[in-house]
Amino acid sequence: MPPPTSAPGVRQAEFRFHCIACGDLSDTASQDFRCAHCGDLLEITYPEWKKFRPNAEKLKSDWCQRRLSQSAIDLSGVWRFRELLPALDNDRDAITLREGNTPLYELPQCARITGVPRLLAKHQGMNPSGSFKDTGMTVAATFAGRAGFRWVACASTGNTSASMAAYAARGGMRSLVLVPEGKISWSKLSQALDYGAVTCQLRTDFDGCLRLLQELVLRAPVYQLNSINPFRLEGQKTLAIELLEQLDWQAPDHIIVPGGNLGNSSAIGKALLEMRDLGLISRLPKLSVIQAEGANALVRTLREAGGKRLVNVQAETRATAIRIGNPASWKKAAHVLEATGGACEQVSEIEIAQAKAEIGAEGIGCEPASAVTLAGLKKLVKQDFVKPEESVVLVLTGNLLKDPDYTIDFHRGELFASTGDERASATLNPLRRPPIVLDATLDAVIGTLQQAENS
Ligand code: F0G
Repeated sequence: MPPPTSAPGVRQAEFRFHCIACGDLSDTASQDFRCAHCGDLLEITYPEWKKFRPNAEKLKSDWCQRRLSQSAIDLSGVWRFRELLPALDNDRDAITLREGNTPLYELPQCARITGVPRLLAKHQGMNPSGSFKDTGMTVAATFAGRAGFRWVACASTGNTSASMAAYAARGGMRSLVLVPEGKISWSKLSQALDYGAVTCQLRTDFDGCLRLLQELVLRAPVYQLNSINPFRLEGQKTLAIELLEQLDWQAPDHIIVPGGNLGNSSAIGKALLEMRDLGLISRLPKLSVIQAEGANALVRTLREAGGKRLVNVQAETRATAIRIGNPASWKKAAHVLEATGGACEQVSEIEIAQAKAEIGAEGIGCEPASAVTLAGLKKLVKQDFVKPEESVVLVLTGNLLKDPDYTIDFHRGELFASTGDERASATLNPLRRPPIVLDATLDAVIGTLQQAENS
């Protein structure tokens, strides 16, 4: 039997469920992960940390040490940080695909464009299923398996379903996917199919799929794996922990993240606050959330309702991953924005397309929803919220290959063709690299090469 891999002297965390509204604490959660008293969302807390505060320096050195280990749990960029996650009875219970361990890239060209020289991208699209969802799914799927569920389910704009189907398959569970018909990319749908999910394309939007799922889990023995499930957010916290480790525990001035259902921003914010409280970092980065103009529920909630009640919207955007009008975790996100002093902005479809091409030109690429971060940064610089001397990390949430139709439409000039928007053409044309169809002759290829060189 392999030796236990928990850091000696640092206990893995015992946890409880804490209601974010009425503060109720409990050891169990119902299947809809809502508070039994007031119906609001739950989060996971670690009351033990008050009595046995983990030693920050020991944690850092143990996490670093584990990089040399070959055990599955240590090779996971999520479970490597398991002292800040709900405890497993046995390390071998973890359902893992070696998630996390994602690169932190410099973006020199985007740095020049934005006028922010210290600009980095944490690329969560380099996870096993191609999006940040894997970091949360490994934890939540593991707890589903531990609770003995045969079925797991989610509503999704595509990435959650791809990730859930993969982890369910690895853990020997069946999975049920509810997606809005015609509103998610084929690439994401194909992943769910290949990983064996029962995939239902519902004639509604994401918000309609999520509403239905919430009712379903109260009627059928299925475990819901949307980000309402607080285990998901615990796993997604590790994005921030791994990022700070990569930065040698020196907090950047800003972290900028896309906002859809608002689970990821909530998770990153929770991690930042916990790391500050545990003494892992000495100051908080400002966490900012960027939304598409057509799916701007949090922007409007903060501007029009002072963050006190949700202003929901009828969502519309080509960045289909964040086409969400009624975000479940809006209260959690509003809280972490306030606690870290971050901003919330919206960006147009043209700004998203331009930013996506600019990130692509760095040789890494991302899906449209991720590109809102760069588009948002440009706005935050203009507003003087981000200063040129400050350091900024953009969270790229999904891989370029997640939505090839968008990229191809962009380069062929078809993305905004039906809108007849002249401004779009002027801004975007210089970034387009459409495929060129030629006769198969040397002259034709050399001519094209010369034309490109001179342009
Ligand atoms: N970026 C990508 C690529 C996403 O897939 C999502 C959400 C987000 C950003 C927004 O993150 O919801 O935590 O605020 N996708 C979900 C899904 C909703 O079903 O795949 P969020």
